[in-house]
Amino acid sequence: MNTFPHKHILNTKQFTRQDLEIIFDKAKEMEQILNWEKDWKLLNWKIMASMFYEPSTRTRLSFESAMRRLGWEVITVSDSSTCSFSKWETIEDNAKIISAYCDIIVMRHSEAYSVDRTAEVSDKPVINAWDWAHQHPTQALLDLYTILKENWRLDNLKVSLVWDLKYGRTTHSLVFLLWLFDDIEFVFISPDELKMPEKVISFLKEKNIKYSEITDYNKWVEKSDVLYVTRIQRERFTDMSEYNEVKDKYILDLDILGNNKDITIMHPLPRVNEIKTEIDSLPNTAFFRQAKNGVPIRMALLYLLLKK
Ligand code: CP
Repeated sequence: MNTFPHKHILNTKQFTRQDLEIIFDKAKEMEQILNWEKDWKLLNWKIMASMFYEPSTRTRLSFESAMRRLGWEVITVSDSSTCSFSKWETIEDNAKIISAYCDIIVMRHSEAYSVDRTAEVSDKPVINAWDWAHQHPTQALLDLYTILKENWRLDNLKVSLVWDLKYGRTTHSLVFLLWLFDDIEFVFISPDELKMPEKVISFLKEKNIKYSEITDYNKWVEKSDVLYVTRIQRERFTDMSEYNEVKDKYILDLDILGNNKDITIMHPLPRVNEIKTEIDSLPNTAFFRQAKNGVPIRMALLYLLLKK
């Protein structure tokens, strides 16, 4: 029986550890299907509306790939200038129309909480593929799944999050999942201008989770289990001189990595210049495997939401 309790996937705060076990068990099964180790019986025909009003490579294509791997269909908007938002249609009217054409909606939009508003009026499940600087829950799920696969555990981990912690919604979403596990410690490394927002810090204080905030890249690397690097979000800066001030501050290379040969190196991608390509061939460099994990995780979510 499908005991997954959610109708929509909107933010990572909605999940319990039990929900995560259900998702990850299903993702393992999906990996067996992808590897031809298990047969897949097609269920009733389903259509996913893939509504990307902001640019995306990984999230859109892995969702569309996941849907097709399950034998289902996709309709898509990948350029907001070609749909009726360009004629000022409201989020709510758009949601009612799209939900009439499909069985599930996956949506990326530039307005915070736009996906929540879509879910409020849609009679079909809605998945948040990120809504501006608010949340990116399916990225956090595949990040957590990657940490589990690379480290064989989710408890007792020291996780360092680096760079643009102000605008990087993937780090916020991941913190709101990882705190569920035992003995988690966070290290936030960023310039003062891009520190973790107060909403995340006050959440960790309230939950009594250990964290520290530092600006020096060299000091912490050797002591962490996971190093999660992010891109500086140039498109969020209104003043380009502020961007130029910080843009080359943290570049990960072999020197910075030092003696910690086991640290799991992650990045939600795309990267710009924050990780040198000399890191790519290390066995503990996980960011390409991380992106690949997006397919089984999204297959699992689509299955769990559509099977209801
Ligand atoms: N990680 C991520 O969300 O990538 P895209 O912007 O390419 O979807």
